[in-house]
Amino acid sequence: MLHSRKLQTVVVLFFSVLLLDSCKKDLSVEPEFDQARARTRTNLTALEQLGKQIFFDARLSEPVGVQACASCHAPQVGFSGFGDIPTGGAAAAQGFKRGFVAGIGEGAPAGAFGRRRPPSAAYASMSPVFALIAVQPDPEEIAAGIIPAPQFMGGNFWDGRATGLRLGNPAAEQALGPFLADKEQNHPSPAAVLAKLRSNRAYIALWQAAFGTPDINNLTTAQINLNYDRVGTAVAAYEASVEVNQFSSKYDAYKRGTASLTPLEAEGLAIFIAPAPNGGECYDCHTQAGLANVEPPAGDAFTDFMFHNDGIPANNRNPGGNVTPDPGLGGFLETSTNPAWQAKAAENFGRFKTPTLRNVGKMQRFMHNGAMASLEEVTHFYNTRDVFGAGWNGVPWAAPEYPFNMDFHGVGGLGLTAHQEAALVAFMKTLDDGFTGPAQ
Ligand code: HEC
Ligand code: HEC
Repeated sequence: MLHSRKLQTVVVLFFSVLLLDSCKKDLSVEPEFDQARARTRTNLTALEQLGKQIFFDARLSEPVGVQACASCHAPQVGFSGFGDIPTGGAAAAQGFKRGFVAGIGEGAPAGAFGRRRPPSAAYASMSPVFALIAVQPDPEEIAAGIIPAPQFMGGNFWDGRATGLRLGNPAAEQALGPFLADKEQNHPSPAAVLAKLRSNRAYIALWQAAFGTPDINNLTTAQINLNYDRVGTAVAAYEASVEVNQFSSKYDAYKRGTASLTPLEAEGLAIFIAPAPNGGECYDCHTQAGLANVEPPAGDAFTDFMFHNDGIPANNRNPGGNVTPDPGLGGFLETSTNPAWQAKAAENFGRFKTPTLRNVGKMQRFMHNGAMASLEEVTHFYNTRDVFGAGWNGVPWAAPEYPFNMDFHGVGGLGLTAHQEAALVAFMKTLDDGFTGPAQ
């Protein structure tokens, strides 16, 4: 059952390659449909199918043909980016048009680099609209009579700046950015993106199916605004589809009662949900419910969608530079037009949105700046960040990129053994989608 689902995914990917190919020639896709393909197509709604086509279309870059959303959010690495891929001509030898340096992706203009690592585009659609919310006091705060200050939650991007307030959907607003960003797909305007879609009959057919009109007009400001927002809505629909938010991990199967964890994985889960010290306290930030000693249900996003400063060191190979520390959430708040948010900038410098742990076993680089290269390193960092002399590969942990506003609760000195660290890593790998066995 699960096995056939995987096969179906392969068929869908194959189908989309054909579809892309037909776009190149600007032919109508309709004659290409046969029964089998039409059936696989029903896995996705028309809106999701349109979003998928856009997500994988490398023609939607300037220069044309070098970069799609999927170049930096590739399914095989958990809809995130790669570790290192040579830049320049050498990338082509590996089948890539653009490279990666220590987890940071090159933009469509050769040699253009931002300084953040692409987080997973999967499960990002579950993030709520960005807001300042009241938080529940923890047991220690209750005992001390402390009412915790409200905290920010939600949005898309590491700093939440795709708030979702305008479209009611952070992922839809996020998707409008990369096509125009000069370190990403680099179009001069939304009208230029729409012009490419308009000139292609495959898109016109998908647009008709998704929105009930074939018109991808881009002449008046009103048309451009309406249709460009539709692009974002379609991409966000694909990101929220069963093909991206799969919930097909071993952990989901375990919670549904169709698979069991190995003893090591089960031990890792127990550490994940046990409070520090002697537990990992990962639940504090990496589940939606955030309750001690409670196993997250199937379908959990494995993030609280809130913002924390884990004290991550700078990535000393960051091609986007390290001259000033990345201000994270505080940087966005500082530039916001909302005075109540602006007033909270200082206390939020250096904080980044907790990423999902789903598919982390497939990822090649970790953290907002790609500073870490393996799950083992990440886990050892949580365990020993604040332990004098501790480090990785014989090199002591470097200073935090931003040393203020740091989280100490559950981060820094957990007192776990090497075996317990290995158990946590084994558990995290059960969150990878595409679990196929044992046969049901
Ligand atoms: C050159 C590489 C690159 C390309 C191309 C790219 N992205 Fe990203 N993406 C990033 C980086 C880097 C970030 C984090 C940026 C930040 O937080 O400031 C990001 C963030 C995101 C997020 C936020 C996830 C979260 O949890 O908040 C989503 C969703 C996403 N991208 C989807 C897309 C889509 C859709 C496209 C195509 C329209 C796209 N990306 C194109 C690199 C890229
Ligand atoms: C205080 C909240 C908090 C706690 C507790 C916490 N995390 Fe995190 N985690 C984060 C944040 C925030 C990030 C991103 C930090 C950054 O990039 O600056 C992160 C990043 C990660 C990543 C990298 C994911 C990626 O896509 O880059 C992994 C893996 C991870 N955490 C695992 C764990 C484990 C295992 C534990 C328990 C030992 C844990 N975390 C405890 C908040 C937390």
